[in-house]
Amino acid sequence: MSKQLIAGNWKMNGSLAANQALLSALAAGASGATCQVAVCVPAPYLAQVQGLLTGTAVAWGAQDVSQHEAGAFTGEVSAGMLREFAVRYCLVGHSERRQYHGETDALVASKAQRALAAGITPIVCVGETLAEREAGRTEEVVKRQLAAVIHTNGHCISEIVVAYEPVWAIGTGKTASPEEAQHVHAVLRSQLQAATTHPERVLILYGGSMNAANAAQLLSQPDIDGGLVGGASLKAPDFLSIVAAAR
Ligand code: PGA
Repeated sequence: MSKQLIAGNWKMNGSLAANQALLSALAAGASGATCQVAVCVPAPYLAQVQGLLTGTAVAWGAQDVSQHEAGAFTGEVSAGMLREFAVRYCLVGHSERRQYHGETDALVASKAQRALAAGITPIVCVGETLAEREAGRTEEVVKRQLAAVIHTNGHCISEIVVAYEPVWAIGTGKTASPEEAQHVHAVLRSQLQAATTHPERVLILYGGSMNAANAAQLLSQPDIDGGLVGGASLKAPDFLSIVAAAR
């Protein structure tokens, strides 16, 4: 099993000045990390992040990518453009994209395909809403979301990262219990096992109100291979304590 991955998702936060301070602290604090570390930042900051993180232990990524290669798609950013800033990762299908921008399973699957074709690792986000959980549909929903990505990406599927983010836990302070999260991760793991001969390569991250206090317990579950961290990734000490809790 590879090292765990702790990835920050800054969402639509940051400024040149604030990023400079945060990135310098992360680069210094993560230098001896035993896990892999990354930050997924707003696209306009990729040049700054590349400048400050090249040669450090912290990798970087984007938060979205266009499903198109190039052309008349105003406002979109292509995988090829991201690649020019040496991004290693790209979030796809974050629940905020699915919810506020109407991203479907099929669209998320083609975004993952674009990223893979450009040599970028897509971090494919899946997760159920509160209503879906209460209706007992959690497994069905996450399996359907992942199945679309498996269907479109076939033999490349061992190159993706999966992030299980229950929508009701994102930014709410409510975390899935380690046992609840582990259960869903095990479901996703067996789905991947059936789809690739190298399921062990696929990291399955947990996301949703992960913080310095709850990270160690979540990260000690057998099928939790890291974290996708929103709010707590904006404060260097908080993010670095999560990094320290990973293996
Ligand atoms: P949160 O966000 O850690 O603030 O809950 C996680 C995410 O949306 O990726």
